[in-house]
Amino acid sequence: MTDHPLTVTLDPYALARELSGKHLINGALVPAASGKTFDVVNPAKGEVVGQAAFGEAADVEAAVAAAAKAQKEWAKRPARERGKLVAACGQALLAHVEEIARLITLETGKALRTESRVEAGVLSDSFTFYGGLAPELKGETVPFSPTVMTITQREPIGVVGAIIPWNVPLLLMALKIAPALVAGNAVVVKSAEEAPFAVLRVCQILNTILPPGLFNMLSGMGPECGAPLVTHPKVGKVTFTGSVETGRIVYKAAAEKLIPVTLELGGKSPMIVMGDADLDKAVAGAVVGMRFTRQGQSCTAASRIFVHSSIHDEFVSRLKAKVDAMVMGDPLDEKTDIGTIVSPGQFEKVKAYIEQGRKEGGTAHACSAMPTAEALGRGLYVQPVIFTGLTNHSRLAREEIFGPVTCVIRFDDYEDAINQANDTEYGLAATIWTNDLKKAMDATQRLEAGLVQVNQNLVVQPNISYGGVKTSGLGKEASLEAMLEHFTHKKTIMINMA
Ligand code: NAI
Ligand code: MG
Repeated sequence: MTDHPLTVTLDPYALARELSGKHLINGALVPAASGKTFDVVNPAKGEVVGQAAFGEAADVEAAVAAAAKAQKEWAKRPARERGKLVAACGQALLAHVEEIARLITLETGKALRTESRVEAGVLSDSFTFYGGLAPELKGETVPFSPTVMTITQREPIGVVGAIIPWNVPLLLMALKIAPALVAGNAVVVKSAEEAPFAVLRVCQILNTILPPGLFNMLSGMGPECGAPLVTHPKVGKVTFTGSVETGRIVYKAAAEKLIPVTLELGGKSPMIVMGDADLDKAVAGAVVGMRFTRQGQSCTAASRIFVHSSIHDEFVSRLKAKVDAMVMGDPLDEKTDIGTIVSPGQFEKVKAYIEQGRKEGGTAHACSAMPTAEALGRGLYVQPVIFTGLTNHSRLAREEIFGPVTCVIRFDDYEDAINQANDTEYGLAATIWTNDLKKAMDATQRLEAGLVQVNQNLVVQPNISYGGVKTSGLGKEASLEAMLEHFTHKKTIMINMA
């Protein structure tokens, strides 16, 4: 814990250099035990902006040891005291919103105005929200017998390992660490290889308030750094957000140790637009739902939009017009709505899906205009694409693209729309747009998803339980229930008074 607040550094390049080559272990910025690093690239310009520490088992060992030690003292503090400190983290982060937003934009290519500032704001809010929930870590009294007082109490798990992705790293990290800390755990986070600096900066800010060792951050690759974190004997819980493929690897490793996991995996979220829907609202909802401002890099992306035949053509032309009006360009520029894809690998993946959609006979309506500035020539820009003419059996409708590509699929019959919406391995989120109350209510009961919304498509909110069914994951994030169910053990205590 340091006494001084950190100076705000608005130049993201300077901050990336300052944070280069470091993990945060036991309250201090330290290099990897091996001294190894890897490049971090600004995808908008193809330039190296810094080097991240290359974490391996030795670094995991040091971070987990520090966490285990700090956790013992932390758990002894009254819950409200822990909550006050976590809420104070939210306040401290507020002063750094602009700085953090610029840094996350530099490393991910997400637009500053439409994406990064919003994310940095919600980050702070998540700490404030969970800090206030500390007094809710309550147990129960069980009516077992009048002479045997039976109670339950919530106890922390110990050291939590958190593995996060690059698409919304700050928010996804906050939804894991804030409840874990309030519940009395210590945390070791492994950042995504594409986006290590903004989360490291956040960790540094939190470490001005929290005791050293309570919250540690490692950067590195999945197999070398993520895997040893999952298998470490002292890690008692793993919370992961990322691909289904890696989620399965994490789940299997956790199963060997018989520890609980929370998995927030992919999605292929349906949006059903009925013929009577308010078209303007539905089109606006599709733009938000598909996360076009985030280049579609969202597990909740409304990537299958089922539109009733009677309004199909009108819907497509209005949606195209709306996305056309969005400005694609330098993510740090205030005028920009849409930035770049995060990495060359994702860029190629998205391009291949667009090609695949054409091969399957779909019509690709490319929207918005490619940026023309010469400086952006090496940027990973992809025009958003609305596909028509593909069916729900297309690979584009079945597989998570994680790019600005959505399929608009025509339907005539409500039953058919519901069946197609559910005909997917995923079940993260779903929406229906209609003014028919009976249909709306019916759909909320029948859509197979962790979150169903009617006539809106809100993004993740701290007090709304969030998490998928089917291969979209296990467990819930955000909300009180996430803290109680996923970051504590329930102990039963029986006192015989007879
Ligand atoms: P990924 O699932 O491989 O990576 C997510 C995190 O897991 C990263 O921190 C990574 O280093 C770590 N990881 C990788 N292998 C690991 C292992 N063996 N043990 C422990 N940790 C490991 O996802 P990636 O490669 O970034 O993206 C691939 C695809 O995954 C995307 O195209 C997208 O479809 C999906 N994805 C879904 C996300 C979501 O929010 N649900 C987020 C990111 C990606
Ligand atoms: Mg991967």
